[in-house]
Amino acid sequence: MKTVAFLQTGRRVEVKTEANVLQALLAERTPVKMACGGRGICATCHIYIESGAQALTPMTKKEERTLSLLGEATPSSRLACQARVLGEGVVVRLPKGLYIERSADLTELIGRRAESRILHPISGKTLVEEGKIITRSVVNALAQVDVDMQRLMEGSRDL
Ligand code: FES
Repeated sequence: MKTVAFLQTGRRVEVKTEANVLQALLAERTPVKMACGGRGICATCHIYIESGAQALTPMTKKEERTLSLLGEATPSSRLACQARVLGEGVVVRLPKGLYIERSADLTELIGRRAESRILHPISGKTLVEEGKIITRSVVNALAQVDVDMQRLMEGSRDL
């Protein structure tokens, strides 16, 4: 077993050696969308590794390619579904904001203010700023998210 720590909460969870960091996120009940089902082609499991990067498996070409499309990526970015935990000392910081998988994910929030930034599931771009009211026209304007996700899933069949 190996321990993964979360910077924002200070909590630590144990995962099996070689489990991916996504398992730690799920154990921590982090609301992670896993829009691509853990195939390394979306942004919804994007995390930052604050320390202990050397205790993770190296980045694959696919992960590199996905992160290269992500505007918020930094050298400490990883995809939780692709990074496997081999050693101790991994500390994870979660990106600020909530990824959506479909524009309909926001329907129940119409009329409310966004509690945190709402982010595109592939590019990580901010779709709705924190504190902005989510209106029906905002949700309608995000229909492109559905198109992007459909293209992503169709394209991923060849991977
Ligand atoms: S769940 Fe899509 S890249 Fe990890």
